[in-house]
Amino acid sequence: MSVVIVVGAQWGDEGKGKVVDLFTERADVVVRYGGGANAGHTLVIDGKKLVTHLVPSGVCHPGKSCVLGDGMVIDPLTLLEELAQCQARGLLAHDELLIGLGAHVILPYHKLVDGLREDRGAKQGRAIGTTRRGIGPAYEMKAARRGVRVRDLLRPERLADKIHQNLDDLGPVIEHLGGTRPTEREVQTWIAEAVAAGERLRPYTGDAGRHVANAIARGQHVLFEGAQGCLLDLDHGTYPYVTSSSTIAAGACQSAGIGPTQIDAVVGITKAYATRVGEGPFPSELHGEAGDRLRKAGGEFGATTGRPRRCGWLDLPALRMGVRLSGMQSLALTKLDVLAGMPDVQVCVAYKLDGRELDEPPTDPDDLMRAEPVYTRLPGWGTLPSDAHDITDLPASARAYVETIERMAGVPFCLVSVGPDRSETIRLHDPFA
Ligand code: IMP
Repeated sequence: MSVVIVVGAQWGDEGKGKVVDLFTERADVVVRYGGGANAGHTLVIDGKKLVTHLVPSGVCHPGKSCVLGDGMVIDPLTLLEELAQCQARGLLAHDELLIGLGAHVILPYHKLVDGLREDRGAKQGRAIGTTRRGIGPAYEMKAARRGVRVRDLLRPERLADKIHQNLDDLGPVIEHLGGTRPTEREVQTWIAEAVAAGERLRPYTGDAGRHVANAIARGQHVLFEGAQGCLLDLDHGTYPYVTSSSTIAAGACQSAGIGPTQIDAVVGITKAYATRVGEGPFPSELHGEAGDRLRKAGGEFGATTGRPRRCGWLDLPALRMGVRLSGMQSLALTKLDVLAGMPDVQVCVAYKLDGRELDEPPTDPDDLMRAEPVYTRLPGWGTLPSDAHDITDLPASARAYVETIERMAGVPFCLVSVGPDRSETIRLHDPFA
């Protein structure tokens, strides 16, 4: 029996889709544990692209149980669209998807408030750069104990009551932010849509926590799929430039309602360089041509919003923080091939701040904005062999890069990805073993 958590070690978009897909071969149950349609995975099945935002990346393996945990915030209309796309490809039969009844629901007014706040923030130079998918407002309502949950979709009267209560709270906020308070007619349409979505989703809903706990008790392999990355964690990330959920490994236990004693392994995923979407400090960011080159080579455009991602050199202080926050025992390195063809590559090994050298990001965001990266320069490498199956198959300088990161992050690699294909992977250690 193995219970493994896979988590992004940076600011999200580390290539979790490919790694989760590979690990799912070994799993019986795959659980998405936080966030909502702010995440995006591009999966390629039989040469056809499938972009998922809510459904776990394990969806490509028929026969596996895919769970949306209670810690998520789910947009029911987006989920129905994804479900239809998956089922058109013969994926996600009825008994392969379980939606936690305790998960919260994103409704049109959450997205409206998210967008209005971002527009206002942009004018005042204070935008977060959210995905505008309503994530923050939905988690706010949850914390205020006014949220709408999946179980409410199945009880139309309670749902209507909650939606009216929410809009009673949010109406003045919407007006204050320059929006127009929704009319009763609009509200009725939203309620009707939510009720209809609930009816269609009803067969997939259930007690997700119990389902996961039972699977663990039966000795099945369970894989928790983190969304976003550790540095976007609400409590420990680069606040306020974070998402509104617990993205670190501990969030998996919280969302599924299982104890930390049940977890066997935590695997972090890091790209061979760094990216960030939205606003917030990013000390190793590359501007101009150097950043453009990485963006183009790595296809660094958001799967959810299409926004160009900010790109930079690998940031070891940030990575060390991710390793610490999630208790990672191993790392998966992705997109090593993207750095191929550079005369040399750099790694940010520390920050300098007020004459001191720091091995992890300072906790105050204004200090992090001022922190100067300290770089080490390493020789570059040419094209990587796509059939590399062992670390010794890599050119010496690529190997030296991998070993340097491993040594300086203090955690061994379990996998190195040298291309987008499943086959372009060096597997060093099986976390389910
Ligand atoms: P929100 O989660 O939409 O509220 O956005 C908050 C911050 O998290 C913004 O900087 C987003 O760009 C970032 N973010 C949210 N989801 C993802 C993701 O899946 N990958 C990378 N960044 C994300």
